Amino acid sequence: MQTVNVAVMGHGVVGSGVVEVLLAHEESIALKAKNKINVKYILDLRDFPGLDYSDRFIKDFNLILKDESIKVVVEVMGGINPAYEYVKACLEAGKSVCTSNKELVAAHGAELLKIAGEKNVNFLFEASVGGGIPVLRPIAQCLAANDLYEVFGILNGTTNFILTKMIKENMAFDDALALAQQLGYAERNPSADVDGHDACRKICILASLCFGRHVYPNQVRTEGITKITLSDVMYAGIAGYVIKLIGHSKLLDDGKISADVYPALIPNDNQLAGVDDVFNAVMVRGDAVGDVLFYGRGAGKLPTASAVVADVIDCVKHLQARKYLSWDDGDKDYVVDSKTVKTKLYVRAKVNDVIAAKAAVFAVLDEAEFIVGAEDNGEVAFITPAMVEQELTLAIESVKELENPAILHVLN
Ligand code: HSE
Repeated sequence: MQTVNVAVMGHGVVGSGVVEVLLAHEESIALKAKNKINVKYILDLRDFPGLDYSDRFIKDFNLILKDESIKVVVEVMGGINPAYEYVKACLEAGKSVCTSNKELVAAHGAELLKIAGEKNVNFLFEASVGGGIPVLRPIAQCLAANDLYEVFGILNGTTNFILTKMIKENMAFDDALALAQQLGYAERNPSADVDGHDACRKICILASLCFGRHVYPNQVRTEGITKITLSDVMYAGIAGYVIKLIGHSKLLDDGKISADVYPALIPNDNQLAGVDDVFNAVMVRGDAVGDVLFYGRGAGKLPTASAVVADVIDCVKHLQARKYLSWDDGDKDYVVDSKTVKTKLYVRAKVNDVIAAKAAVFAVLDEAEFIVGAEDNGEVAFITPAMVEQELTLAIESVKELENPAILHVLN
């Protein structure tokens, strides 16, 4: 059996998981890859004394780039710089690259895939969406017969963990975030999770793959969960919903797409409502297959390492052959604002006089389903019939009885 040398760039949570899995499963992986996989270098600026593999650490990227025996490079550093420069250089040097770095793929995926194609090497990033859940490969391969028309889901483990703690344990947002960070789920900067940027990058990757053109993060309306209160969680529960952060993209009639990230009320009987803790779920809709749901651990060291190592095995098995992933460049007019789509909306606001506020709401909306219990907190909360958000905003702007109303979408 031949040996294929690989390098791992980054020894953080995911990187250390990748090395551990490659070493712990060395024999079974060799059988599956038809080659022995040897981790020759681990690139990190920090020192890691006392590990079984401490002798493999290097600090100079050029050692990897110039070593022709390195056929596959794993990029698990995160961030754009220097990951982008390193990955591009590796692909240009004819090395396959596997990454979990959704920020990189969402920003530069089309370009890096193109270079991989020109150099006849692979650029794989299964772990960048859904952590350990196989979702990109199934979309690209197993659903290839379909015209896909919608993709949406719970794409961020940290926010799902936080919301689950709020829903099930009445835990305050800050405490739940601290716990998620302690467990290694959150990104280096928690804003990436709680403000929705991580989910945004993932819906960019999913939409690019499903619909064939690159979707850039700045084209996606992105709203996080920091404004969600324990009261929202409670009112949603009373009305038969749970609040989840959703990434959503849809193919429209004119060939353009919508793409958004937003916290939504999910009806209790929807499959996504039962997706709790750090779990993610991705729903893909195709014209031949109908609905397909992917579910599993969306964050964490070993689930993510599981997906990265599977990509490494795939690269090693296909050193001379290109895999299937690719999409075209994007366009500034390709993604449209989905605020024009009709949906039920949830509204919560502080009020001085509950009865006056309800009357004022009924004066501007034909229908509103008020949630019982909100008045105990000096608030009103209600769900509108399906309507465009902008119409609602305009209608309630004139309702002076509602102080700073919060609006959330209700998933149909
Ligand atoms: N911080 C991310 C999450 C890690 O919570 O989902 C996996 O991408």
